Amino acid sequence: MRKPPKTFFIRTYGCQMNELDTEIMAGQLLKKGLTPSLDEENADLLIFNTCSIRDLAERKVMGKLGLLGRASRKNSIVGVTGCMAMAKKQTLFRKFPHLDFVIGTNNITDLDTVIDEILYTDHQIHKTDDRFEENLDYLIAKRDSKVKAHVSIIRGCDKYCTYCVVPYTRGEEVSRPPESIVDECRRLADEGYKEITLLGQNVNSYGKDRPEWNCLFHDLLAKLDAIEGIERIRFMTSHPVDITVGLMEAIRDLPSLCEFVHFPLQAGSSRILKKMHRIYTKEQYFEKVRLLREIVPNATLGTDIIVGFPTETDAEFEETYEAMKELRFSVAFIFAYSARTGTPAKRWKDDVPETVKQERLQRLLSLQNELGQEERQQFLGQDVEVLVESLNKDGKHLKGRTRCWKKIVFEGDTDMIGTLQQVKVQGFHHQTMIGALPGRQIQKTSKLKVV
Ligand code: 5AD
Ligand code: SF4
Repeated sequence: MRKPPKTFFIRTYGCQMNELDTEIMAGQLLKKGLTPSLDEENADLLIFNTCSIRDLAERKVMGKLGLLGRASRKNSIVGVTGCMAMAKKQTLFRKFPHLDFVIGTNNITDLDTVIDEILYTDHQIHKTDDRFEENLDYLIAKRDSKVKAHVSIIRGCDKYCTYCVVPYTRGEEVSRPPESIVDECRRLADEGYKEITLLGQNVNSYGKDRPEWNCLFHDLLAKLDAIEGIERIRFMTSHPVDITVGLMEAIRDLPSLCEFVHFPLQAGSSRILKKMHRIYTKEQYFEKVRLLREIVPNATLGTDIIVGFPTETDAEFEETYEAMKELRFSVAFIFAYSARTGTPAKRWKDDVPETVKQERLQRLLSLQNELGQEERQQFLGQDVEVLVESLNKDGKHLKGRTRCWKKIVFEGDTDMIGTLQQVKVQGFHHQTMIGALPGRQIQKTSKLKVV
């Protein structure tokens, strides 16, 4: 029998859903008696919780796994979890014979038994079910923050955008029962958590797979808003088609719901949107944003954009450029298209040259930068509500976020962590706002440059 591991290290790639899965796995391992290690090289159990969304994300992990020879880690257990585990399954064993286990996104409850099985049999184990069974113990999650928490409400995605691997790596949509979500959020509130981010590949689909629950996304939001102690509720991520008037009104009416909406446009050309199977046109998207801004005038928007999708012409890219200029997103994640195995788009020629993709990417990044600078100027001198999250990296300032998700640092006392404060915006350091509490001025000697 192999020696049972005493310490563990989990390296996480990708989205917040993966971060939450890591917190749940860490909780399971703590319960099993292991201790977390900061030493990736020497931990007895090493897990790569992986992402497959773009080729680069996969290549990073493949490189890491290649470097870890059996010889150098003969005493430790090494495993792959997450989306790459689903995309590649047991073929990973062929490429990396020193790997001990592969556990897919729908099997993280099995981590404990998989480790035992490896110890007793010394065989390579893989568990990669296609469907998620709602049997995860979320309450076990070991969170780093004491102020804000991620809470999973729906797993998987049924939208099948033609470029996206998620419906294949995370399976179809499975909503979590509302009582279980409310119970977890109540416990978090009792423990002093102030902010909850509801997670799902498409949170707005919540409850549609279980009509008998009579609880759609905006109904769930109302239940969570009623929990005493939770000051802020956010959600990630949404599909524009499912951003309904009911949801917009919930954002307007429920005090804890933040006015920041992630509203992924992906492309500004209706032809490309159709080819992406986004099921909305540019005009329909613009109309939804107009409606949202009418119902929630102080709403800020985030977005995701893909440039260089197969057959995207210069003129179609310009439509994306113009759309971004007009819509003025507060946050934009911009990606170059990357063909993913198993998706419909993989069958089409990836015909936009890499140099053109990179040029388009850079143009959007600099546009977003300009828009960001203009937006920041408007904040100067304003008082913003900040949830104080932690000490800043410099060890001197406090760090927090506004309701619209802007990061801000300011001088204050550590007992303010976990409280809401009004802070005056006095300057910027790159994207981060620098503020001061009433009656305090920014120290000009501070390490942070004030503009
Ligand atoms: N290539 C590039 N970007 C992608 N995304 C998803 N799949 C791909 C792909 N194949 C982006 C989308 C999505 C975000 C999470 O990642 O913009 O919203
Ligand atoms: Fe992928 Fe589209 Fe589902 Fe988002 S909505 S996870 S982009 S398939």
